[in-house]
Amino acid sequence: MKIGILTSGGDCAGLNAAVGAVTIAAAQNGIETLGIRRGSVGLMGDEPDYISLNAEKFTHDLMHKPSTFLGTTNKGNPFQYPDGKGAFDDRSDEIIRNIKKLGIDTLIGIGGDGSLEILHNITEKGGVNLIWIPKTIDNDVDETELAVGFYSAVSTANNFLNNLHATAQTHDVVMITEIMGRDAGHLALHSGLAASADIILIPEIPYNLDAIVKKYQSIKESGRNYAQIVVSEAVKDLNGNKVQRKSASGKVVYGGIGEYLKAKLGEVLKAEIRVQSPGHTLRGCAPTAQDMILAKQYGQKAVELILQKKTGRMVAMRDGDIVDVDVREVAGKSRAVDVDGDMVHTARALNISFGDE
Ligand code: F6P
Repeated sequence: MKIGILTSGGDCAGLNAAVGAVTIAAAQNGIETLGIRRGSVGLMGDEPDYISLNAEKFTHDLMHKPSTFLGTTNKGNPFQYPDGKGAFDDRSDEIIRNIKKLGIDTLIGIGGDGSLEILHNITEKGGVNLIWIPKTIDNDVDETELAVGFYSAVSTANNFLNNLHATAQTHDVVMITEIMGRDAGHLALHSGLAASADIILIPEIPYNLDAIVKKYQSIKESGRNYAQIVVSEAVKDLNGNKVQRKSASGKVVYGGIGEYLKAKLGEVLKAEIRVQSPGHTLRGCAPTAQDMILAKQYGQKAVELILQKKTGRMVAMRDGDIVDVDVREVAGKSRAVDVDGDMVHTARALNISFGDE
């Protein structure tokens, strides 16, 4: 038996541990593992770009190394792949051909919701077995409580916010910190709650400037002259307006809401406002213990599914247990913050504002 494994979409912590866990568990059962380089791009062209993996390769250094040694891609859909001359080609047949050429029985993809949908469609078209391992700092893959990379990003964002606290206090500054996460606010919510932010703005709860001003005034009345505002990059106001732009490839790109809020709030707060963001450090950080464990559990489970001849499955966490779900249940969906759920409830009960009341 032969497994092909690739990492896809934006990088994050824990990917190398997941690839290592798959390789080691597969080798234990006499299964060969091929690592595909640069995600689906490594399967385009005449010759697939891959590397033979073995258990010995996965030293402690490699297992704990940030990002992905296989490389990845988060640009371009193979069904409409830019040809470099302004037009688009369907490259899906090349990918299917190369998977077959390598003699791969099952492809294991490690990626987020966007990559899953694409790889699911390609493998369906080609009659190739697929197993999915969810990863993303956004933690928005549906049908799972946790994706690899999320908690390392939470930890990095939490450290970033905590390191702002003393200086905000000393210099009476309102710190606005912009946090990645695309259309889901999990990362901002978790890190903001952990770091005791005063205001957390997430895409699932439209904000209004008056509510933010009101909250800041109540902070001042309590005798404090500084505040921490955590803002998820894709938040919207009551009219649904977001700060976004289109990249050259037509992808919606976020970034800039911090400066936008500073300009709006600066007029009314009469406070010094500073904006910063941990940016891609949330992706390039080293894996925390929690992500190392999750990556190993998911990697091992993926191999177990192959041994059980259960494919078309995504490994997932439900109520803290490692389970598997049908990829068709996940493809094309994403998981938002439950605005009536425990996390929001806890934050509100601790007097954290979501900028809505
Ligand atoms: O999906 C992961 C993520 O980091 C998002 O949180 C963010 O919006 C996006 O990727 C940024 O992607 P890029 O590095 O292509 O700008």
